[in-house]
Amino acid sequence: MKILLLGGGGREHALAWKIAQSKKVEKLYIAPGNAGTGSVGENVAIGVNEFDKLKDFAVKNEIDIVVVGPEDPLVKGVYDEFKNDPRTKDIPVIGPSKQGAVLEGSKDFAKAFMERHNIPTAKYHTFDGTTLEEGLKFLETLKAPYVLKADGLAAGKGVLILPTLEEAKKEFKDMLGGMFGNASAKVVIEEYLSGIECSVFVLTDGKHYQILPEAKDYKRIGEHDTGLNTGGMGSVTPVPFATKEWMKKVEERIIKPTVNGLAEENIDYKGFIFFGLINVEGEPMVIEYNCRMGDPETESVMLRLKTDIVDLFEGVANGNLDKYTVEFDERAAVCVMLVSGGYPEEYVKGYPISGIDQVEGSIVFHSGTAVKEGQVVTNGGRVIAVSSYGKDKEEALQKSFQEAQKIEFKDKYFRKDIGQDL
Ligand code: AMP
Ligand code: GLY
Repeated sequence: MKILLLGGGGREHALAWKIAQSKKVEKLYIAPGNAGTGSVGENVAIGVNEFDKLKDFAVKNEIDIVVVGPEDPLVKGVYDEFKNDPRTKDIPVIGPSKQGAVLEGSKDFAKAFMERHNIPTAKYHTFDGTTLEEGLKFLETLKAPYVLKADGLAAGKGVLILPTLEEAKKEFKDMLGGMFGNASAKVVIEEYLSGIECSVFVLTDGKHYQILPEAKDYKRIGEHDTGLNTGGMGSVTPVPFATKEWMKKVEERIIKPTVNGLAEENIDYKGFIFFGLINVEGEPMVIEYNCRMGDPETESVMLRLKTDIVDLFEGVANGNLDKYTVEFDERAAVCVMLVSGGYPEEYVKGYPISGIDQVEGSIVFHSGTAVKEGQVVTNGGRVIAVSSYGKDKEEALQKSFQEAQKIEFKDKYFRKDIGQDL
């Protein structure tokens, strides 16, 4: 089987690593990939949004399955592009249709969907430029802190949590005034939920679903969850509070109504659903939906997935995902992200990276790297994920921290408190 994976971050390196382990795979291409994916497959110099080039490549190379890593091409309709072209309509694309990706692409749509299907989430209202005054009045009815969300994709920066009513009102006006461009033309104001977050992943064929290992990620740059938000500084699986009983609640109250709701609304969805959940006094509630796997959750979750992921993709393609069982590795798995100094603010790219070949017993996933004149160099804020197994998360973390010391690049930084809050 020939597989084309779209994307070029740590998530895609982890997916590529897992896909490449399948006996069914004859050839794995990654477009565009990074310095790491080239070691498990063949990188192809096509961007994730270059749909015509991707389709041409898929036809020419007789691709059997396309797997989409990031949200951007999904929200832009890569699934539909393949379906609507007679040359590529029969190539299964793992990822939702453009309509399905709206679950991530519009917070307002996601909230209304949850309301329609009775899925537990924070109370909310959505406002735009014509209802600004109503929005300010709504804020007055809420208690601090205040949660404001840009409706559209804003590179992970579109959520503001503000301690005072004054700040909330000011930021609300600024958001509607174009703080995130068109993404904040509509703003969701919602009730603040207090609890610990957990990412739950399923793969669905539109009718059936399989639950993958859950994980917790660490979003802030500073230790003990301080400082600015990042794409994610590390992840841990399993999550101790995600017990069988808690996951049963997640399945009954959240996963089933979501998958059934998509089907009832005739939304074509064959791919990953990422449920960003929060545990509020033992009860799971949805913070957000994403239409893809998480990053850096994938860099630990793939370690715990024992089942052949290509079998599962076939189940999605054939609409018989219920015929498969998903086996989890009993061990814990973690990932620690090495980032560029300065990230998530300004940072320098192009520093040489050394020591990757010294790493033993951990798995190195490249996130923001490139090869320059034969040398692997930093090429992003998040540079390398060091993933490890352990009998428990402590053992796995100790391993990742130890191996992380061996990898060197100028101004390298990583959080040493990953997993400590659990
Ligand atoms: P989102 O992009 O919707 O995942 O929001 C980014 C982050 O903001 C989440 O991971 C949470 O940490 C936080 N957040 C979002 N919505 C809420 C809420 N209603 N209550 C508390 N925290 C929230
Ligand atoms: N780790 C959170 C995300 O991928 O959005």
